Amino acid sequence: MISYNEKERIFKLDTPNTSYLIGIVDEENFIGHIYYGKRLRDTEAAFLMRTGEPPYVPSKNNRERCSFYDCFPFEYPTGGMGDYRESCLTIRTADGHTGSMLSYVSHEIFDGKPELNGLPATFGTEQECNTLRIICEDKYAGMQVELLFSVFHDTDVITRSVKITNIGQKHFYLTKVYSACIDMDNNDFDMISLHGSWARERYIQRKTLGYGIQNVSSFRGQSGHQDHPFLALVDKNTTQEHGEIYAMNFVYSGNFCAQAEVSQFGFVRMSMGIHPENFCWKLESGESFQAPEVVMVYTDKGFDAMTAAFHKLYKKHLIRSVYKNKKRPILINNWEATYFDFNTEKLLSIAKEASQLGIEMLVMDDGWFGKRNSDTCGLGDWVVNEEKLNGGLKYLVDEVNKLGMKFGIWFEPEMISPDSDLYRAHPDWAIAIPGRPSTEARQQYVLDLSRKEVVDYIYEMVASVLRSANIEYVKWDMNRQLSNIGSICLPADRQGELYHRYVLAVYEMQRRLTEEFPNLLLENCSGGGARFDPGMLYFSPQIWCSDDTDAIERLAIQEGTSLIYPLSTMGAHVSDCPNHVLGRTTPFETRGIVALAGTFGYELDVTKIAQKEKDMIPKQVALYHQFNDLIREGDYYRIASYQKNHLFDCWQVVSEDKMEALVTFVQVLSRPNYKSKRILLKGLAEDKQYKVCFVNDETIESKVYSGDTLMKAGLLIPGLFGDFQARLIQLVAEA
Ligand code: DGJ
Repeated sequence: MISYNEKERIFKLDTPNTSYLIGIVDEENFIGHIYYGKRLRDTEAAFLMRTGEPPYVPSKNNRERCSFYDCFPFEYPTGGMGDYRESCLTIRTADGHTGSMLSYVSHEIFDGKPELNGLPATFGTEQECNTLRIICEDKYAGMQVELLFSVFHDTDVITRSVKITNIGQKHFYLTKVYSACIDMDNNDFDMISLHGSWARERYIQRKTLGYGIQNVSSFRGQSGHQDHPFLALVDKNTTQEHGEIYAMNFVYSGNFCAQAEVSQFGFVRMSMGIHPENFCWKLESGESFQAPEVVMVYTDKGFDAMTAAFHKLYKKHLIRSVYKNKKRPILINNWEATYFDFNTEKLLSIAKEASQLGIEMLVMDDGWFGKRNSDTCGLGDWVVNEEKLNGGLKYLVDEVNKLGMKFGIWFEPEMISPDSDLYRAHPDWAIAIPGRPSTEARQQYVLDLSRKEVVDYIYEMVASVLRSANIEYVKWDMNRQLSNIGSICLPADRQGELYHRYVLAVYEMQRRLTEEFPNLLLENCSGGGARFDPGMLYFSPQIWCSDDTDAIERLAIQEGTSLIYPLSTMGAHVSDCPNHVLGRTTPFETRGIVALAGTFGYELDVTKIAQKEKDMIPKQVALYHQFNDLIREGDYYRIASYQKNHLFDCWQVVSEDKMEALVTFVQVLSRPNYKSKRILLKGLAEDKQYKVCFVNDETIESKVYSGDTLMKAGLLIPGLFGDFQARLIQLVAEA
């Protein structure tokens, strides 16, 4: 619900449990942020803008205009006029000047939510959401700014984005455009972010928010392994179940900045948008720039509630794939099984064995094209290597199909190897600074996707492979970050557009791909999970979480990822041991149980593993079929974190009707204390009786307990012998 109180000049945006207030102030029509928090009955909170205190609004006292700017809670702050906190928008006019200030001009409120030109964004019908568009202007700069806010009726989420239009005569440059900002009082906040590196993505970090600017960011040309486009400010006492959280997540896959600044008066400015590093977008008269969307969540009920809001939004209003509500085929990927050393025969022998064990799709990873027998060459030459795939691709796919399995394939469409036919023909197609040696990463360069002919050529190569056989899945990889930013096709004053144009082109290619092949299951990937973000989820219902497939490392990676993203989106496979990244050996059963919390599949040579392990695969397959609907669609709760207690991990999924639940418990380290562990379950119906069954432990007798008891008194997990032990516990409500 969105309303406007014309007398008080206050907008009120309501979600089921939250309210957001924006005020228009003074005869100069400043747009101020009043409130974001628990749902309010009315709009009487304008006092929070403190315009009745010195330094007063300029119409009352113009002497301290600068000081007024420096502490007013701007809804969308601009720089250079006296607000010395970090702004959301910086322009440089044709004459080279930078200051700007916005004032309200008009607004409209309407049902539904518009698409954002060229960008992924959340969506909803006219019945599911409504939108406020505030138009403001800087008449001196000839600039119009549209602030877009949408509220969803079924979840506590508000989305925001910004569009800038040049309504003047001369061009100007945008050198910074963030998408969202909240100016509010600092409540002694902690800051939550997700950090990582290759094979260690999205670890949760919590630290005290101090004075000054604290941020997480990427200017790697992708969202990245290292930081994540997510930021939350939380009360010191916030836990899984209690406490305030203000969270932002960016629906974008390129450079980002997410930051919080505590100012001299103890106010905090939280903002998010495209990173200004190397960003400069030229707007000619009449042109517009659309900034990506930020998703905001407020709750006073702790991390479980924040997670629930993001999960619900992304499951219902972000992912578009036909697979979003469907069980995905259990796949076996040959990467860790063979790396580059495979041929038709080897792949078919894996497929044959896998099909007999219940695995449903073979995915052929890197190495099937050009002369790609290692990662030193071949990217860009998307032509089947018939020396490896003797008989051709169609033959292989048909043979796999005959086994009753689907077939999937790997691409890295954004890249070019210096040692490739494509590079020899078009050396200028790589992103590079003319005259300067380019920096290689994994011995490859990045294609200049700001050029239409490059995008069209690559798209056509990829699509013609897909048209040539019955290929039902694509893994779209991206194995290096951008550097040496330069395009020979952009003029000097548009080179700063390359990073964003690159991301727009990736989106355009994936849009084309999913439109031409609407039934394709697309899985995004980037050297593991370096581009696991809502922008990519818009196109693919699942993303490869990490190259680290070790079950124990995965506990932390999947905990951090599931803080925001539904389990149905997390690519997770059972791989061989000792683990290829860590060298750790964990029980096959535990690997399966941990991978069940994601899309589930295998990444090993099933013809080579021990018979004992092979025998377990049909059982794991059966568990997947038994529980995937629940895991994919159910509500997720975090019960315990190995990252915090250093001993065990535990999470739970509950069906919407609370008739069924599944608890996963993983003991990481065994201690000489064989006493059972008590865990408190969540999300059950207090008045229902649940039959509790230890699915993979026949020694424990099934018993019936009430939801009330299980949530308040808890459940005992018997002492487990050995490190890395896992238990799956099913709860079924009695009718
Ligand atoms: C990185 C991916 O994360 C891996 O799964 C694999 O596809 C390799 N790239 C192939 O080069």
